[in-house]
Amino acid sequence: MSRVRKTIAVLAGDGIGPEVTGAAVRLLGDCAAVFEHDFEFREFAFGGAAIDRFGTPLPEETLAGCRSCDAILLGAIGGPSWDSVSLEKRPEAGLLRLRKQLGLYINLRPIQLRSSLQGISPLRRDRISGCDFEIVRELAGDIYFGEHEQRGEGEDASARDVAYYTATEIERVARYAFERADARNRHVTSVDKANVLATSALWRNTVTRVARQYPSVTLEHLYVDNAAMQILLRPAQFDVILTGNLFGDILSDEAAALAGSIGLIPSMSRGAANEPALYEPIHGSAPSLAGKDVACPLGAIFSATLLLRESFGLEIEAQWIESAVDRVLDHGYRTMDIAESGSRVLRSSEFTAQICGELHESLVHSERYGWGV
Ligand code: IPM
Ligand code: MN
Repeated sequence: MSRVRKTIAVLAGDGIGPEVTGAAVRLLGDCAAVFEHDFEFREFAFGGAAIDRFGTPLPEETLAGCRSCDAILLGAIGGPSWDSVSLEKRPEAGLLRLRKQLGLYINLRPIQLRSSLQGISPLRRDRISGCDFEIVRELAGDIYFGEHEQRGEGEDASARDVAYYTATEIERVARYAFERADARNRHVTSVDKANVLATSALWRNTVTRVARQYPSVTLEHLYVDNAAMQILLRPAQFDVILTGNLFGDILSDEAAALAGSIGLIPSMSRGAANEPALYEPIHGSAPSLAGKDVACPLGAIFSATLLLRESFGLEIEAQWIESAVDRVLDHGYRTMDIAESGSRVLRSSEFTAQICGELHESLVHSERYGWGV
């Protein structure tokens, strides 16, 4: 095994962010020790925590720190203390600026159910069975980054947000979705509202044009309202869902619910292959759970394994952690949000400790029998 030296920026953020990233960093540290890699973790202030300390959700030092690292691990941001602040000063504005500044235009959200967690899906077993798809959400354009305007007060108040896409922006994310699909089940479902929106008509034409370069991949178009329904009715029909920024935000929360808890789903945001990618659970900062040691760390842990795989090319290491998680779940250990009747409910830190215990046991096993999995 060759030694890999990497730096990881850690932006713990707000609410349960520090707890869940703490669990992920702990497992990455174990991984580095066992496989003799050298991971250096650099922490930076971000989100509401950075507003409180530096008056801005994305301090220059944080941005520069992220740029200097090989990958970024983010917890979650936001919370009631910053809810009354104007939109452009909120923690969320820091996240949007970070995405823009780092050129992160692709957001990947894998919707996969661990086999021992099928019972917590809100869908019947026959409907959820075979559900394994990825959402590729465009992350740097659309109504998120068009002009936002608020005018007037009271009854005279008005507001508008402009949705804007260029063909180039659509094309680059579409290519990524087709490449992803080519390595999976070769099916892309592009989601838009082309019967109403000009940006969606451009989206559909552009995606259709890109599809010609990928003859082995089948392309299907769905309107977003129908897609929202299909995700609930027949989730197993999807392989890769490609969609814009706003629709992707909404559909990915819906899809995450299929897994039984939004606390389980990781994400990767990336731009050019040579720039650092950002990994974060898709859940929010869950202020009501913060500091209680009950939050599910799995979204952050799967973000860490996605990081190992996608940014560092460390597939065996990623599998090593994921199979330890699966064994802990198979033994019936759960955090509160993913518990079923008969589960052994643990505090978040105890749950992570169980995973570390499984990692250690598999290490003893591998010393005897090697890493063949
Ligand atoms: C997400 C979040 C963000 C988004 C917020 C926090 C700005 O909901 O990553 O899905 O809307 O993109
Ligand atoms: Mn969201």
